[in-house]
Amino acid sequence: ETAATDFDFESYIADIPDYPEPGVVFKDITPLFADANAMRQAITALADHFRGRGVTKVIGPEARGFMVGVPVALELGAGFIPARKPGKLPRETVSISYELEYGTDTLEIHADALEPGDRVLIIDDLVATGGTVAATGKLVQNMGAELIGYGCILELAFLNPRDALAASGDQELFSLV
Ligand code: PRP
Ligand code: ADE
Repeated sequence: ETAATDFDFESYIADIPDYPEPGVVFKDITPLFADANAMRQAITALADHFRGRGVTKVIGPEARGFMVGVPVALELGAGFIPARKPGKLPRETVSISYELEYGTDTLEIHADALEPGDRVLIIDDLVATGGTVAATGKLVQNMGAELIGYGCILELAFLNPRDALAASGDQELFSLV
């Protein structure tokens, strides 16, 4: 499902061909965040979609997931939990590794960040293969919390991220573009 709002989010996202490597079109969300109104529209649209569902915690994957996840959490009256690259969190962590196109990546959250009964929303700027948010979702489920869904500004549908997400359940992915 995509957003009901008429706001033209796409016009605030820049396409950078062949970055960071040949053949990749990088989707740059910094113009959207640089525009006060566009940023507010995006955060509000994401929060509005998940409002009223009892979300207690938002998790955002480093680093662009922090930019989107924190204001969505504030707007929902939920707490925020960072999912970080290895070795960055100071206390005991739980971690999950996942496949990239080449090689693997790992994300960690603090082991005491979630409690049974927490209702968790995962927010990132962009979902490409879905590997990052799917792994974060599995981590939430491994910890015994309830995964409510996934939200992002931009979904690269041609990479079929919904196939990656289906492996960890039928939670909804909501994207603005
Ligand atoms: C980007 C983006 C998502 C992820 C999407 O993060 O912010 O988290 O890749 O790709 P996927 O759906 O194929 O997993 P990146 O790892 O580049 O880190 P950054 O936010 O620190 O730039
Ligand atoms: N993360 C993974 N793929 C990306 C893309 N095409 N643009 C921006 N961030 C990304």
